[in-house]
Amino acid sequence: MTYKEQLDYNRIPQHIAIIMDGNGRWAKAKGKQRGEGHIAGASTLHDTMMHAAQLGVKYVTVYAFSTENWTRPDEEVNGLMALLFEKLDLGIFMDNDIRFCVIGDTDRLPEKVRERMNYCISQSAGNQRGTLTVALSYSSKWELTRATKLIAEQVKEGKLAIDEITDKTIDEALCTSFMPDPDLLIRTGGETRLSNYLLWQCAYTELYFCDTYWPDFDEEALCKAIYTFQQRERRFGKTSEQIAEENSNR
Ligand code: FPP
Repeated sequence: MTYKEQLDYNRIPQHIAIIMDGNGRWAKAKGKQRGEGHIAGASTLHDTMMHAAQLGVKYVTVYAFSTENWTRPDEEVNGLMALLFEKLDLGIFMDNDIRFCVIGDTDRLPEKVRERMNYCISQSAGNQRGTLTVALSYSSKWELTRATKLIAEQVKEGKLAIDEITDKTIDEALCTSFMPDPDLLIRTGGETRLSNYLLWQCAYTELYFCDTYWPDFDEEALCKAIYTFQQRERRFGKTSEQIAEENSNR
């Protein structure tokens, strides 16, 4: 039986975050340039967005470019920016009723990428079936620093008392304030770290690491990740007995 056939469709994660790693190694293994790995990766992203929407996943948030990625060779950075510009196709979002969002330090992006990105964001804002959020020029440390400054500003202006600051205040100051925390985080490419991605938001997220390089991550690989997630017990700091009781009272 395939993983897809074994899924419990009543327990599909609402939000999946993905670290799309392994494009460069995929290309190298095939004797191709790194850029070709990113092109293949963009196609996998398109397919994954479609599969996730079909399965009923409401939010998919992918790490496409970190603040640290700006230090990669110019040729690779320029290639990735050109790819972004080319692949930001409003038609795909409108035809599939997918809302497109971006999180990150977007002021650093080339103007033409930013313009197309903002156009896709505003035009797709009313779409309902799912939300694809792309983290671009993003890192958690950048985001948390920005949130801290926003909150400090509110305190300074007398709009917020220090005692009133709660974890909700921080949630609301993050770029991700419009989405629930991820239920499942998938990292492809064999590394087992979070690389400065959604560190606050993943406090209780189930982590799934696989060796598959991102361009090879297909529908069955996605279903395997979701199936593995469904086998886990999410306790959010409680005991198994408490969780069992809560489930029986539902
Ligand atoms: C990590 O693989 C991947 C990236 C830094 C870029 C991911 C970007 C895409 C998949 C394209 C996104 C396109 C759109 C339209 C959002 P790596 O290069 O670090 O791989 P390696 O670890 O094997 O070298």
